[in-house]
Amino acid sequence: MAAIFTVIFALLMFQSSSPVTALNINYYDHTCPRLETTVTNAVKEAMKNDKTVPAALLRMQFHDCFIRGCDGSVLLNSKGKKTAEKDGPPNISLHAFHVIDNAKKAVEALCPGVVSCADILALAARDAVALSGGPPWDVPKGRKDGRISKATDTRQLPAPTFNISQLQQSFSQRGLSMEDLVALSGGHTLGFSHCSSFQNRIHNFNATLDIDPSMNPSFAASLRNVCPAHNKVKSAGTSLDSSVTVFDNAYYKLLLQGKSIFSSDQALLTTPKTKALVSKFASSKTAFEKAFVQSMIKMSSITGGQEIRLDCRFVN
Ligand code: HEM
Ligand SMILES: *[C@@H]1O[C@H](CO)[C@@H](O)[C@H](O)[C@H]1NC(C)=O
Ligand SMILES: *[C@@H]1O[C@H](CO)[C@@H](O)[C@H](O)[C@H]1NC(C)=O
Ligand SMILES: *[C@@H]1O[C@H](CO)[C@@H](O)[C@H](O)[C@H]1NC(C)=O
Repeated sequence: MAAIFTVIFALLMFQSSSPVTALNINYYDHTCPRLETTVTNAVKEAMKNDKTVPAALLRMQFHDCFIRGCDGSVLLNSKGKKTAEKDGPPNISLHAFHVIDNAKKAVEALCPGVVSCADILALAARDAVALSGGPPWDVPKGRKDGRISKATDTRQLPAPTFNISQLQQSFSQRGLSMEDLVALSGGHTLGFSHCSSFQNRIHNFNATLDIDPSMNPSFAASLRNVCPAHNKVKSAGTSLDSSVTVFDNAYYKLLLQGKSIFSSDQALLTTPKTKALVSKFASSKTAFEKAFVQSMIKMSSITGGQEIRLDCRFVN
């Protein structure tokens, strides 16, 4: 009898935790016990010289998981005319690939041919958050690396101009909910955006208005200052929240004040359900952290690959 209940319970658990994968936090316990400290050290080392590393790693993980699952496809180099994701249109924010290369090199020296690049990236993204003052968590591991990376696939990423229904569709296609959308958008507590990603809000917003009226006027004015209508400075842009290298809930507080950067951020205020979550996360850093960790684990459990790549930039 008890055995039957155990089986039923196991089945229920299995069904409720979609997307279902065989990932496991103890996956490399015997085959590469020093994996995690090795990756953490590589991230720490890179952060010493470059404060933008954590944001880059977190964004890279999102990008990886949203295209072909978390299979390290974002890490592959272009090959001749075959342009890879990293050289596709929204690559403007991708950098810090050297951090993954260094971590992979150190891991290969310890346990050759065992650990996937996709797992190294998932660990590095976790470290990026934890080392920026955010919550730590156990990363389920056992991802495999993919063999395909196409620049044209980057069209599948949600655009910063998306409204709430477009965002919902993009997330639900990957098994992610509206709660996941609101929690993961909190990743914008770290990092930077180029002018091109939010110019739709500050110039020619629509036929009647130049500036998005949901934006705080003085905030909009300051953005227009950095990003004039015919901006020639390719590198110009702004930080995504007021504490650009600190993982906190300032993003949600600013969002409620009309001081978010993207239309996709502002869109979170356009349904009662998502707006309530924004308010909750703005008033409780603990609630945000708990939700963020849950959603990161969910997003990074979308799997896809087949091999353990030896060099993260090339298929075997
Ligand atoms: C909800 C849909 C999302 C959209 C539309 C979006 C869009 C963007 C855009 C346009 C940029 C700036 C690119 C640039 O101009 O340089 C950016 C940066 C960033 N995004 Fe998102 N994003 C989304 C979700 C996420 C998620 C889920 C995460 C991670 C959990 C994330 C983390 C980041 C980080 C950390 C940066 C800063 C990158 C850096 O400074 O290097 N984003 N995002
Ligand atoms: C982005 O793509 C362009 C080509 O489309 C390439 O020249 C550039 O190096 C890429 N940037 C990064 C950071 O990979
Ligand atoms: C979002 O944009 C799409 C495409 O432009 C449009 O069809 C849809 O009605 C919009 N939804 C909302 C809630 O504005
Ligand atoms: C421009 O946007 C505002 C605010 O969203 C809206 O009220 C107005 O109808 C829009 N105008 C046009 C022409 O779409």
